Amino acid sequence: MTRNRTVALSTTAMGVAMALFLVLVLVLALTFSGRQKTSMGKTTISPASPVSPVDTIRLRSGLEMPAVGYGTCCRPSAKGEAIFKSTKIFLKNGGRLIDTAMAYRNHEEIGKAIAKSGIPRSEIWITSKIAPNKAKNYDECLIDVDNILEELETPYLDLLLIHAPKLGKERTTQLWKCLIEARHVGKVKSIGVSNFNRGEIEDIAEATNGEMPEANEIQQHPWSSQEWRDLARWQKKQGIATIAYTSLGGSRFHRAEGDGAAWPGKVTRVAKAHGVTEAQVLLKWALQHDMAVIPGSGSKEHILENLMVPSFQLSEEEILDIESADAPRDWWDSKRGPIKYGDEEATRPWEERKNG
Ligand SMILES: NC(=O)c1ccc[n+]([C@@H]2O[C@H](COP(=O)([O-])OP(=O)(O)OC[C@H]3O[C@@H](n4cnc5c(N)ncnc54)[C@H](OP(=O)(O)O)[C@@H]3O)[C@@H](O)[C@H]2O)c1
Repeated sequence: MTRNRTVALSTTAMGVAMALFLVLVLVLALTFSGRQKTSMGKTTISPASPVSPVDTIRLRSGLEMPAVGYGTCCRPSAKGEAIFKSTKIFLKNGGRLIDTAMAYRNHEEIGKAIAKSGIPRSEIWITSKIAPNKAKNYDECLIDVDNILEELETPYLDLLLIHAPKLGKERTTQLWKCLIEARHVGKVKSIGVSNFNRGEIEDIAEATNGEMPEANEIQQHPWSSQEWRDLARWQKKQGIATIAYTSLGGSRFHRAEGDGAAWPGKVTRVAKAHGVTEAQVLLKWALQHDMAVIPGSGSKEHILENLMVPSFQLSEEEILDIESADAPRDWWDSKRGPIKYGDEEATRPWEERKNG
């Protein structure tokens, strides 16, 4: 009996020791895997860690959208074989959100890159956008939702946006109803808008029993106009996620100035102080404002740099200092406010337009 108890006790002790050992192994694994919890409770990656940025932004639906994505618009490297290859690089190195649009005309290449990546579809977040100068009403929009899915070789999108409120109130509302229907039938998980101002968001919500977009993709960087900045603040209060574009000045900026040139001196000073790059400072600026970022690049080095934004924090003083710098020359539309209904660009036929 005593012997049995001794055996039972030593078995229990061994079990406890084994459990403690496993906990220790787990703690060490987490410590050295490069993933850390920030003070906001979000997970980020350490500078040297070649792991995926798993930081996410929670949409109203409860879905977790990756906070660092890959932009696929506008630059020459955003088409054909180049975008196929760079999307694969992004995915292979842990990137999980791809931002595309009908207007970028690269769905097929991106779809192929995703298929070839070997990564399960459920682990990748695809955002696309309905082009308002192609789909001009509810029915045309529903057809284009199917076209997008076919082009991207996917049964569903994680997020579908209306690219811009260019069609005026009545027809923009038709597109919004189309997106609500696409979500209802499971072709899309989340729906939102892009380039909408506050009034335009309120219009579509009012016309659909208060159905607010889950995200608005808009221009946001330290030199955005006051109107854009106010919009992002309002969206935060409304539970509308802000996806920031043109964080690095837009493709024209870098094409015009040469690689990495012409960062404002204040950004360079902050970057040096933290031992990071200027691009990482600007991406961090948006992330610290709880926005998702979707920098675009055709260079492997830049793709990795943008993906591996280290877990440093910008101080309030640094943020104010950067924002007080003069907007860099040619920085994408830094002075322009949100696009308004009836933008005349929208009247140009789809076939004649290269982007948007
Ligand atoms: N919804 C909308 O209306 C809208 C409008 C504009 C953009 N977007 C989306 O937002 C994405 C990003 O915007 P964007 O492409 O206009 O501008 P961006 O990301 O601000 O800038 C892209 C430019 O920055 C350069 N770059 C990227 N990473 C860099 C780095 N680490 N260091 C130095 N240079 C770097 C790229 O050149 P390299 O190729 O040489 O790296 C590229 O020319 C787009 O691709 C698109 O998906 C949406």
